[in-house]
Amino acid sequence: MAKFLVQKSDPLRGEVTISGSKNAVLPIMAATLLTEEKCEISDTPALRDVEVMCDLLENLGCSVNKNLEQNTVEITSGNEISGEAPYSLVKMMRASILVLGALIHRTGHAVIPLPGGCAIGKRPIELHLKGLKAMGVTVDEEKLARGIVDASAEKLHGGTIYLDFPSVGATEVIMMAATLAEGTTILENAAQEPEIVDLASFLNKMGARIKGAGTDTVKITGVDKLKGVHHQVIPDRIEAGTFMVGAAITKGNILIRNVVPSHLKAVIAKLTECGIEITMTDEGMRVRGDVNPLIATNIKTLPYPGFPTDMQSPFMALLTVAKGPSVVIETVFENRFMHVGEFNRMGANIKTDGNAAMIPGDKELEGAEVVATDLRAGAAVVLTGLVAEGTTEVSKVYHIDRGYENFVDKLKALGANIMRIEDKSE
Ligand code: UD1
Repeated sequence: MAKFLVQKSDPLRGEVTISGSKNAVLPIMAATLLTEEKCEISDTPALRDVEVMCDLLENLGCSVNKNLEQNTVEITSGNEISGEAPYSLVKMMRASILVLGALIHRTGHAVIPLPGGCAIGKRPIELHLKGLKAMGVTVDEEKLARGIVDASAEKLHGGTIYLDFPSVGATEVIMMAATLAEGTTILENAAQEPEIVDLASFLNKMGARIKGAGTDTVKITGVDKLKGVHHQVIPDRIEAGTFMVGAAITKGNILIRNVVPSHLKAVIAKLTECGIEITMTDEGMRVRGDVNPLIATNIKTLPYPGFPTDMQSPFMALLTVAKGPSVVIETVFENRFMHVGEFNRMGANIKTDGNAAMIPGDKELEGAEVVATDLRAGAAVVLTGLVAEGTTEVSKVYHIDRGYENFVDKLKALGANIMRIEDKSE
């Protein structure tokens, strides 16, 4: 298994170009099941999760032509689609559930085994199912109790659906299902993430009639048919945020290209409170951590447009070395503090109480052997490694490969002292 070796580094300097968004491209790829025609997706990031989604779609009967070196993928779902997703693929990526709504349309009957609880929480799907049931889908409750979604419908119809929590995945699955349902679907308390807007714009190009994506109420008027289209994926706001923290924690000065600042309002506001100077130029976003002293601030994660839970661990990395104490409150996932133990190995001395983490700040970190406990936590420990004395050895970096394209090369190009090694002893 691969590891990263990270050494204390000079301030990051130079430019980095952000890849297409992982969380936008996965639902868009799933949505290609809604047409038999070919869809071309550009700015597709070369990531492990994207490869798993390609494999899943192929396994369901799609023809997938991926050229991830060129960041493109072409998917034709043709007319021979199977409704059964294999557990061997689904267990590799929870986002596999995103195919559910589209698959029911194509096959009338979808069977998707659910992986068990994952590292950052239970991640249930009762909201996805609540929405689909309101549209006429029947779910086999006995199989569900055994962890298998077995959902069927001859024809889906519109309905009014209120989500108890603005779940990103549920909003996407219901939106996809509603595009070809008979009548109108109103989705209330919908998630408002930019990735939802990107999915809606892809679906609308295909011929769907979706209004209000990006607000808490989405109205979808069903149409008879969708067509194949080309779509360019939005930039990954979490990757951008991670590099912003990279500049901040190392007191660097970097230019980030291919970034949408309006997707990062909460992150920009919080970094600014910490003393980071962020300006937009014609070329991109300039992030400077070398202008002011780094000071602590509190954060609380929330659904968009609040502070993103996916930025919680990278931001906590910054707070470990910022001047003054801070509190981080995680409200989106119930178990997303696994990185705290890793930071503490490096001397951060963070305490947790329920969904709150108390960070004393002002620490001189020391390199240690740490684990990438999940995707974002993995990136976060790499960031602390850049400012810790000595060497930080990060294992289980396959988590990082799931969601950061060329992470090591991009960091190296900014001057980071990091290398990837293949460890054959494991
Ligand atoms: C997506 C993102 C993930 C991000 C998360 C929150 C993708 C592929 N992944 O995940 O990176 O961290 O949004 O921004 O886009 N919940 C329920 N019942 C449900 C559905 C969700 O209780 O039926 C809860 C979950 O347990 C979790 C919270 O809602 O605590 C957020 O989940 P959700 O918004 O659905 O996240 P994902 O779509 O899984």
